[in-house]
Formats: sequence, C-alpha cells, structure tokens
Amino acid sequence: MTTTIKSLVQDAAQRLRVSGVEGPRRDAELIVGHVLGLERAQIIARGDDPVDGASASRIDILAAERAARRPMAQILGRREFWSLTFKVTGATLDPRPDTETLVEAVLAVIGLRRWQALRILDLGTGTGCILAALLTECPAAQGVGVDRSPAAAAVARENMAALGLDRRAAIVEGDWCAGLSGPFDVIVSNPPYIPEADLARLAPEVRLFEPRAALTPGGDGLGAYRAIVGQIAMVAAPGAIVGFEVGIGQAEAVAELMGAAGLGPVTIRPDLAGIGRAVLGRGPG
Ligand SMILES: C[S@@+](CC[C@H](N)C(=O)[O-])C[C@H]1O[C@@H](n2cnc3c(N)ncnc32)[C@H](O)[C@@H]1O
Repeated sequence: MTTTIKSLVQDAAQRLRVSGVEGPRRDAELIVGHVLGLERAQIIARGDDPVDGASASRIDILAAERAARRPMAQILGRREFWSLTFKVTGATLDPRPDTETLVEAVLAVIGLRRWQALRILDLGTGTGCILAALLTECPAAQGVGVDRSPAAAAVARENMAALGLDRRAAIVEGDWCAGLSGPFDVIVSNPPYIPEADLARLAPEVRLFEPRAALTPGGDGLGAYRAIVGQIAMVAAPGAIVGFEVGIGQAEAVAELMGAAGLGPVTIRPDLAGIGRAVLGRGPG
C-alpha cells in the first residue's frame, strides 16, 4: 500500500492521541508539514499524494518524540512570539503568549519615548524574545540580554542575528546584574518563578523537556525576584521603567518586594484571562 500524506497524518495523530497529547491531529499535521515543507492547508488539500520512504521515517521519528511529550516548539525548532519567529531548543524556555502581556505593559509605559535611544536590559533572556520584541517596537533603542545559561545565550544571539537586531542587542552570559554597567532606561525580566513544590504538577512537556533553571529558582519561587530587586539600583537610570512577568498568584508578593526596595509606584497588569501577569515599577531616583 502506498504511504500517503493522509495515512501518515492519521497514524501519527492516533499515536499522539494514545499518548495523551492535547490536539493530536493538529500536531500530527504540523509534524508532517514540517518534514515535507508544506503548510497545514496543503497537508489537507494534498492528502492523497505519496510520500517517499526517507520522509516517512523522519515523520515516524518526530511523532515518536512528540508521543514522548517533547514540546512542539522543540520539534519544529521555532516559536512565534510578538509576530516574530524565534529559534527554540532544549536550552531555552518556549516563549509563552502570556509573556506578551509584559511586552504590551512595558510599551504602554514607554509611550512616545519609543522613538528615543533607550537602553533596555532583559534579565534571563532565554530565546531573547522579550528583548527582540521591545527592540522591534523601539527602533532607536539598544539592548542587553543576560542569561546564566551559555547555551540559551547562544540561541538568543542567533535569534537577534536572524531578526536583524544583532547590531542593537548584546547577549551576555551572567548572573542577573552582576558585572553589568548601566544605566538602563528599561529593565525587564521573566525570571524562573515556579515554586519547587509545584514542579511535579507541570505538564510532561514542561517538566521533562524545558530547562529546570528556566522554570524554578527553587523554594517558594520568589528567589529570582528578590535577587533582581536587590540589584536593580546598581544598573537603573533614575526613574527607569522596571517590569516583571509573574506567575499565578505572585503579583501582590512581587509588588510588595518592589515597593519595599523603593521601586514604586507599582502597578499590576492582568493578562487576557484576568490574571495579574506583569508587575511594573520605577527605578529609584
Ligand atoms: C522563565 S525563563 C525566560 C526566558 C525568556 N525571557 C522568555 O520570556 O521566554 C528564565 C531565564 O532565566 C535564566 N536564568 C536563571 N537564573 C539566572 C540567573 N541567575 N542569571 C541570569 N539568568 C538566569 C534561565 O536560564 C532562563 O533562560
């Protein structure tokens, strides 16, 4: 029997369904499309087209990886964020739509200053998605993205180059603000914030495949905020815009930390689900 696009999609979808993957048909179509270089609409329209053995084997391997719950972004090697495409690997957090709330909130405070030569700092840059989104919206700005993971920093550098932002973005390996020379006008961070006790409850895609250092700082999940808030005065320009992404139920605690460190007035912005997701303040002075 000839192997066709349709039969490969059906087989892969069934395998993913049995493994408990959400949206198995969608993921099967994406995997088949990825290997064959086709859009999802073409996969459906060309269902009866035959597929060569090498492509069928590659689809089989990727379907097995997805069945083992490897995230789609790692399988495809990319993720859209802020309408930009980012390379994603096992060393980086998969950029989340929630994080666009932080970008939107910070841009709203930047307002017309977006045309100025702002200096932007992104702490825990991962793929570089937040920094790249802000640099795209602020065409005269320069930025620094910091990550403690050399492998994540390398991916962020690749992303900046692919997006044509490498002349405005420096990606450095480091521990939060240590060794940085400011001052920065905008300081943003989506740090690891999942409480250690919650790790076991995460979906297998996250728990088994995303870097632990990107997920949790250990303990109650607030350790990275405490560390960064304690260092911000060293690198912030007077009145700098400071913005954090926070996890569910953490907004008040982070707002309190910021207020206590003199980073007020502090405001909390909800995401589309009404959950406090971005906490904004001002650098001292
Ligand atoms: C939640 S991920 C966020 C990645 C990216 N900014 C995003 O929003 O998709 C947190 C990032 O912080 C980095 N990180 C963890 N501890 C760090 C530290 N002490 N200094 C610098 N980066 C750190 C991790 O390697 C990870 O890339």
